[in-house]
Amino acid sequence: MTDLPTLNTADADYTRDPYTPLAALREQESLSRTVVDGLPLWLVTRYDDAVRVLSDPRISNDGSRHGGPGARGVAWTGTRGGLHAHLLRVDAPDHTRLRRLVSKAFTPRRVAALEPRIRTIATELIAALPTESEHVDLLAAYASPLPIAVIAELFGVQAADLGEFRYWTDAYVGVSASDGGLQAEAVRRLGILLVDLIHRRREELGDRGLDVEHEGTLLDGMIKARDHDDRLDEPELLAMAFLLLAAGYETTVNLIANGLLVLMSEPARLAQLVAEPGLLPAAIEEFLRFESPVKTAAPRYATEDLYLSDTLISAGDAVLVHHSAVNRDPARAADADVYDLRRSATRAGGSHLAFGHGPHYCLGASLARLEARVAFEELLVAYPGTELAVPVDAIEWRHSRQIRGVRALPVRLGHVP
Ligand code: HEM
Repeated sequence: MTDLPTLNTADADYTRDPYTPLAALREQESLSRTVVDGLPLWLVTRYDDAVRVLSDPRISNDGSRHGGPGARGVAWTGTRGGLHAHLLRVDAPDHTRLRRLVSKAFTPRRVAALEPRIRTIATELIAALPTESEHVDLLAAYASPLPIAVIAELFGVQAADLGEFRYWTDAYVGVSASDGGLQAEAVRRLGILLVDLIHRRREELGDRGLDVEHEGTLLDGMIKARDHDDRLDEPELLAMAFLLLAAGYETTVNLIANGLLVLMSEPARLAQLVAEPGLLPAAIEEFLRFESPVKTAAPRYATEDLYLSDTLISAGDAVLVHHSAVNRDPARAADADVYDLRRSATRAGGSHLAFGHGPHYCLGASLARLEARVAFEELLVAYPGTELAVPVDAIEWRHSRQIRGVRALPVRLGHVP
């Protein structure tokens, strides 16, 4: 084991630039037996392999059942007390059932209907930006509060509870994850808040007919969603609510913040987008590819001995798809290390796996795209001449195994592009 390549995701170099070491692994071999943070895994760095892994029914998301002796120890996948016995940790048929019920509530129509509300949230945040200060941290003042306000909206959190909801969600998703005590307290507090919301909504909704496809909040839709006699029970509703907090918050924050950084690190890019706002959807796809907010997928486990790209994977082995690596695979995208805001506009089909692939493809992808589009539209209209307040090399990235995101985004707001 000692001569296997190793990847320590807490290394300062890797935190700043994960792409260089990943490219070296990708060039060497198809699947690399690599020790990631002390645990041996098969690391997937090529695009085509990732698509295969993420859609192969012989490869499971359920480490508690299929992880072998070593892989079961992939302790860092985080379980947070059973609440994560949810979509991302289960396989068909349980996954199919849960996903079908949630999808009944998470419809394109309900997502599209959120646009005016998201725009209001964005414009209110912009109006509150401290214009008199020299530096504004757009992470803290814009990219971060917007998605949490949207999630609060999805759950129907009352305005009076919003501050508390945001505080405990920040503690829960890891802004302070190093403090286990605080995180446990966050799970407790959020649990109380969410159970209370579920009870209240259940009571108010009663047996009143509700069109789950578009009436009420997402939580209302989840409470009401039925498949014949089957519904989500209370523990399932609670687990789903926690999953949406974990999966829908930081991810979207960092799509917005990474996108802003990519634009401001070369002012000509920002100017081009301001001049041609129609490029925004393509620019967002390219943010997702180029600085993927979710670095790695949830670990997968081989349920039997199997071959992937001529490599024998033994039953129980853990397999980790690295989005940051596969999205810059030169076999998939020419000049993959270059940000090209026209790239996906000129390419048929999706060109990245930032939202995953296969049965666990991100449930919130269309919501995340909508939030990002509105966030950029409003900011670029209000402050088209915004620039970084520090040299790009001075921007610090967060130490995180899973999330690619900055610690702060100090800018000078500007009206003139
Ligand atoms: C799954 C990325 C926003 C809810 C995933 C997966 C990825 C991902 C890569 C698959 C993980 C895997 O296969 O191991 C992202 C990114 C986002 C984002 C980059 C923002 C830019 C959201 C939002 C929501 C959400 C806003 C909901 C409010 C989910 C859920 C799953 C998921 C529920 C699990 C689906 C399943 O297992 O069937 N996301 N996500 N995500 N995402 Fe997202």
